[in-house]
Amino acid sequence: MRLDRILANAGLGSRPEVQRLIRAGRVRVGGEPVRDPTRHADPLAVAVDDEPLDHPTGVTVALHKPVGYVCSHTGEEGDTVYELLPATWGLRLPRPEAVGRLDRETSGLLIVTDDHALLHRLTSPKHHVTKTYLATLARPVEDDLIESFASGTLVLRGETEACRPAAVQLLDPRTAEVSLTEGRYHQVRRMFAACGNHVEALQRTAVAGCRLGDLAPGTWRDVDPAELSAA
Ligand code: URA
Repeated sequence: MRLDRILANAGLGSRPEVQRLIRAGRVRVGGEPVRDPTRHADPLAVAVDDEPLDHPTGVTVALHKPVGYVCSHTGEEGDTVYELLPATWGLRLPRPEAVGRLDRETSGLLIVTDDHALLHRLTSPKHHVTKTYLATLARPVEDDLIESFASGTLVLRGETEACRPAAVQLLDPRTAEVSLTEGRYHQVRRMFAACGNHVEALQRTAVAGCRLGDLAPGTWRDVDPAELSAA
């Protein structure tokens, strides 16, 4: 790929801006200064001001979304999850995007990627990717709720098509781990509501084999694609 395109795709500026960087002699390829923006290079060999490029081959990360943040690029609805990531990522091409959305009041694992084939695989309704949530409930979970979630017959308010079977594991009477293989609007909260319970707190703990683990709220880590292999 051309050097100017590599730098522009990495979020370092517009084509004219990065061409100026290159002509100023601030860019090296394999340690050698290169002043020709049209030169082709391996992104892994490129350095600007002696710093290797940030994520030269693309971005796929796990972000611990805190409560209170929205999964949107515009700040119209409040703080956005993209503010928790490096500002240059907003200029990268392709731009990293959250894989699906979590409500403002839900915390936990959000995959952010610029690999649009991966994004499609993780969000397509055809792929039935498993997502796991930890729900804190207002009332103890009854056996018939667990059966109803597992039955494949639970219909959400305002809908006609039943939810796919969802597994519930009780950690204590008011704390449940729920695994879904679809992603409808506010699905976990609405499934509990459909059974007469109420979700007081919700955290996503896993997506397609990738686990939140002990990632601190508001921080992110790189994800090895193998972690998402269950997708
Ligand atoms: N289900 C919900 O209710 N909220 C989310 O953010 C995700 C799943």
